[in-house]
Amino acid sequence: MALTPPSERIWWNEPIAKIELTWIAIAFVWGLIMFFMMIYWHGAGEQNLSSEAYRIKPAVFAERAQDMIDAYTVRQEEGFPVVHPPPGTDIYLIARLWQWWPILELEKDQSYRLHLSSTDWMHGFSLQPVNINIQVHPGYDMVITVKPDRAGEYGVVCNEYCGLGHHQMVGKLYVVE
Ligand code: CUA
Repeated sequence: MALTPPSERIWWNEPIAKIELTWIAIAFVWGLIMFFMMIYWHGAGEQNLSSEAYRIKPAVFAERAQDMIDAYTVRQEEGFPVVHPPPGTDIYLIARLWQWWPILELEKDQSYRLHLSSTDWMHGFSLQPVNINIQVHPGYDMVITVKPDRAGEYGVVCNEYCGLGHHQMVGKLYVVE
């Protein structure tokens, strides 16, 4: 309670100035437009992912990733296996404290089913510089169908705070011709 209460305590019964009403109406209509744009952009936008999610035990996910790594590793880079899986296959990227494992090497204009999961805490997959973002949870297999259309080296950064090494959780992804 204020020391000196305002004289008009029931402020919501006070008349509203016309200009304020106008701004409320504009904001409301804009909110409605943006709400329906979300649905429109899902179909017409280029960065709205239609992803699937399945429950999976972290150990099972790690095993599937390891099978892919064992089969298709083409070289090592600073202790990381660089994996070049055949186009059209299921590929795996593990998020864990504090790295993206392994480095994937994909072929341009080929499609893959990218599986993302964490084996410990929640992380955020953020592909740079194209800015594709998806949350990565332990216990869930997030599946995105990807078809890279530009060759090059991409960065994978973690965009969910995941502890002391969060800022070092930087990975790589290659797209080759
Ligand atoms: Cu992983 Cu932040």
